[in-house]
Amino acid sequence: MQLAEHIAQIRAEFQQDCAALKLADQAVEELRIKYLGKKGRITTLFATLAELPATEKPLAGKLLNELKRDVESTINQLKEQLLARKSDEEFFDYTLPGISPKIGHFHPVTQTINHAINIFREMGFDVRFGPEVETDYYNFGALNFPPDHPARDMQDTFFITEKILLRTHTSPIQIRTMLNEKPPIRILAPGRVYRNEAINPRSYCTFHQIEGLYVDREVSFSELKTTLVVFAKRFFGTEAQIRFRPSFFPFTEPSAELDVTCIICGGTGCRVCKQSGWLEILGCGMVDPNVLQEVGIDPEIYSGYAFGMGLDRIALLKYGITDIRLLFDGDIRFLEQF
Ligand code: DAH
Repeated sequence: MQLAEHIAQIRAEFQQDCAALKLADQAVEELRIKYLGKKGRITTLFATLAELPATEKPLAGKLLNELKRDVESTINQLKEQLLARKSDEEFFDYTLPGISPKIGHFHPVTQTINHAINIFREMGFDVRFGPEVETDYYNFGALNFPPDHPARDMQDTFFITEKILLRTHTSPIQIRTMLNEKPPIRILAPGRVYRNEAINPRSYCTFHQIEGLYVDREVSFSELKTTLVVFAKRFFGTEAQIRFRPSFFPFTEPSAELDVTCIICGGTGCRVCKQSGWLEILGCGMVDPNVLQEVGIDPEIYSGYAFGMGLDRIALLKYGITDIRLLFDGDIRFLEQF
């Protein structure tokens, strides 16, 4: 009987297709369409039933229905397998501990700068910034360094042209601020500075300073002292002692340098403080009347104090780092430790 053979052939073909099947949504759907779709092998065969002689119809119908049922059930099984595999793949254990994302942190120098800024902010200081490439005027001239004055040699300067240079200190920000703002002015100016110095574990060609400036009526040296004492106690700890020594800066008169009891030995004397018990941390003084005059602030009415502090050495001491160059290398193995 022709139709029965045909049915057996389709069954064999279906089994081959199943054996070669790659278990995937699309492949299973294609298989279904090939046999059970509108123009599928089995569907079209049903159409030929009508043409059969009445005697053959019942058997042929039975065989064909069996084939259809078997194919349907195999395809359903395949779909179930697909579903089961998917839920395996999508299984996610929400109780597993997470992988914490790597979060960066501030550079040790930035941490030191921020610590200092936060203390002065509470005392009413705002923050100002200035360019690292400066002119001779802002870096020296307006700060009362006369031309060819030996004080310029104190700061080995990187010149770009005769009049343009890399700032050697953050003091030019004093000038820029006083030219742009009216007293009362109470600012901090942190930033990077550059000096053409021999490079060794203790000194580098670039480092960081923070500048302070307060200009108002009747600003006095005792206010400067109080501000710096409060800062030193908060920054270095309440046991810290400070002392002022007379000094010279062209832009302040009188000028002083501030020492704090050695943060390593607490003042008893060690290698870091060269047995003196003291560390020099900043320069300060009353803004020279010449400087006020230069920026158009009347020194008969206003007075001010200023201070400038190097931060890298403080960071080195605080973290026990023995080579300043490490602060600038950007070596991740070093930086990860802070
Ligand atoms: N600019 C000085 C330097 O780099 C530090 C300094 C000293 C700043 C005294 C000041 C100051 O504002 O009053 O050596």
